[in-house]
Amino acid sequence: MTVDTALSQRWRSARPPVVGVHVDSAACSRQSFAVIEAATGHARREAEVGGYVAAQEAAARLMAGRAAIGALTGMSPDDVVFTTGASHALDLLLASWPNRPGVIACLPGEFAPNLAVMAANGFEVRLLPVDGLGRAVVDDVAALVAAESPTLVHLTVVASHRGIVQPLHDMAALCREHGVPLVVDAAQGLGQVDCVVDADATYGTSRKWLAGPRGVGVLAVRPELAARLRPRIPPPDWTLDIPPLRRLELGEANIAARVAFSLAVGEHMTCGPEQMRSRLAEVGRLTREAMSDVPGWRVVEPVGAPTAITTLAPTDGTDVARIRDELIARHSIVTTVAGPDRAPFELSRPVLRVSPHVDLSEQDLAAIADALGALTPLCAR
Ligand SMILES: Cc1ncc(COP(=O)(O)O)c(C=O)c1O
Repeated sequence: MTVDTALSQRWRSARPPVVGVHVDSAACSRQSFAVIEAATGHARREAEVGGYVAAQEAAARLMAGRAAIGALTGMSPDDVVFTTGASHALDLLLASWPNRPGVIACLPGEFAPNLAVMAANGFEVRLLPVDGLGRAVVDDVAALVAAESPTLVHLTVVASHRGIVQPLHDMAALCREHGVPLVVDAAQGLGQVDCVVDADATYGTSRKWLAGPRGVGVLAVRPELAARLRPRIPPPDWTLDIPPLRRLELGEANIAARVAFSLAVGEHMTCGPEQMRSRLAEVGRLTREAMSDVPGWRVVEPVGAPTAITTLAPTDGTDVARIRDELIARHSIVTTVAGPDRAPFELSRPVLRVSPHVDLSEQDLAAIADALGALTPLCAR
């Protein structure tokens, strides 16, 4: 079993040593020394020359970040704006949608905060047909889209609570064929799966698989849609000579975090997006194999699902939230508990999410399996 690779060693040595076992990249990855230094270096520069001058100096680095996101989403650097996170990106987009509100067709496994943003912007939701794993059934989706012409299709390419990849390219083709805009939530997708697709908008976040800092996200919008957006601020009837997309970026921002994120995406590109994806898929497979024998748990994904997210469902009455807390308290093993409130139309019981990055080691897997095995009998509900 190939657990340690040149890529994992390189990724590990680029970061501060981990305390315990960090298998929580679907929540928040570990930043590299260089990314941390980019943020602090920018903050220092703000103190030296002033925040606005430092921002001007950083323009080329921020543009490189936009270009890298453009490359990962199949868009151009000018199509990309920075946000404070994925939910903020969706909110900006829907609040500016040309013919809002309307009906959004989305997956039953849709992330609850996305559903909240859709509702807050007045959109109704129509659930797409899926298979037993929550994957869109493309032919049935095509029939629904043809019959109901939703305002847009929203596809979360990898869910927060399950390491399954949606048929992104087929969905994009069918949306194009039916003239329905496609918006892609790539918060778990960017860095982990191929998100270069003919979507009308794609958005994501910094801190997960791209290993940037917290508090940064991105929204990439095709020029045809961007030209039709009606940002709320400044009001659309103020005749300002600012293109709609750039209006979305007006306002105060943590430039140091954007600079650091741009560097993190640059590091990802240097490692090679394909190599990263294939290593993350390998890491997912190794994790599922190692967890499949732990008594009291069932691995939800097929073993070869091409993501690094492994979801463990308790087979009896284990208290998953307590397991997660005890894993941290007793073993410094960081995982996530995902409850039904994360995906209310799909998840009925809490699950444990194990989401290592490329630096996963054989010792990590053994430590997780041993700790879970020991804690499970102690954490019955
Ligand atoms: C699938 C998915 N979409 C959206 C988000 C929201 O991202 P953010 O916290 O950056 O708004 C997350 C975060 O966990 C997510 O997993």
